[in-house]
Amino acid sequence: MSRAPNAQKQSLPASSIPPRIFLVGFMGSGKTTIGRLLARRLGRPFIDLDERIVERTGRSISRLFAERGEAAFRQLETELIGEVIDEPEAVISLGGGAFVSEVNRRMIQASGVSIWLDCAFEIIVKRLEGTNDRPLNTSPEQLRRLLESRLSSYAQADLRIDASRSQPAELVEEIIGRLRDRSTRRSSST
Ligand code: S3P
Repeated sequence: MSRAPNAQKQSLPASSIPPRIFLVGFMGSGKTTIGRLLARRLGRPFIDLDERIVERTGRSISRLFAERGEAAFRQLETELIGEVIDEPEAVISLGGGAFVSEVNRRMIQASGVSIWLDCAFEIIVKRLEGTNDRPLNTSPEQLRRLLESRLSSYAQADLRIDASRSQPAELVEEIIGRLRDRSTRRSSST
């Protein structure tokens, strides 16, 4: 994977940023866009878990849900999380439901840092309008119920970023700053 010029210009002490960064949050919260930018900024591989599932099965997410059901999809999600936690370094975007499972959360928490991209519901609905590639996006009402039922899981991420107001590039810098602060606090408390 190519390294962005930025990642080389400004030295980011490798030790201050955990090797594996997991982006969690609801559909449409920007996990893939921000994950890709963050990976480029850090000069690390980017992994989108849904893309991995599609590559592995040769089926779109919608087709997987239709042919095998959500439970089978969730099982694949857990299996693939079990693989990516062993990557030497990566930025990993998870599907919106992946952090709901306690088994998944435990694997992720033991492997690296999790970041919740917390995005306002109105923005999410706007972004998802007119898209038809997410089987659980059946109506705004259903989306709201689903989001509400997941908030307590997302809140278990190590960091929460307000993803509603800033542009992706700014959010990436905010994430890097928060990760550095966290590492400084940790090393000064030992
Ligand atoms: C899902 C979110 C989707 C995808 C699948 C299920 C969910 O990923 O994993 O459609 O349960 O919220 P994104 O969050 O990347 O849209």
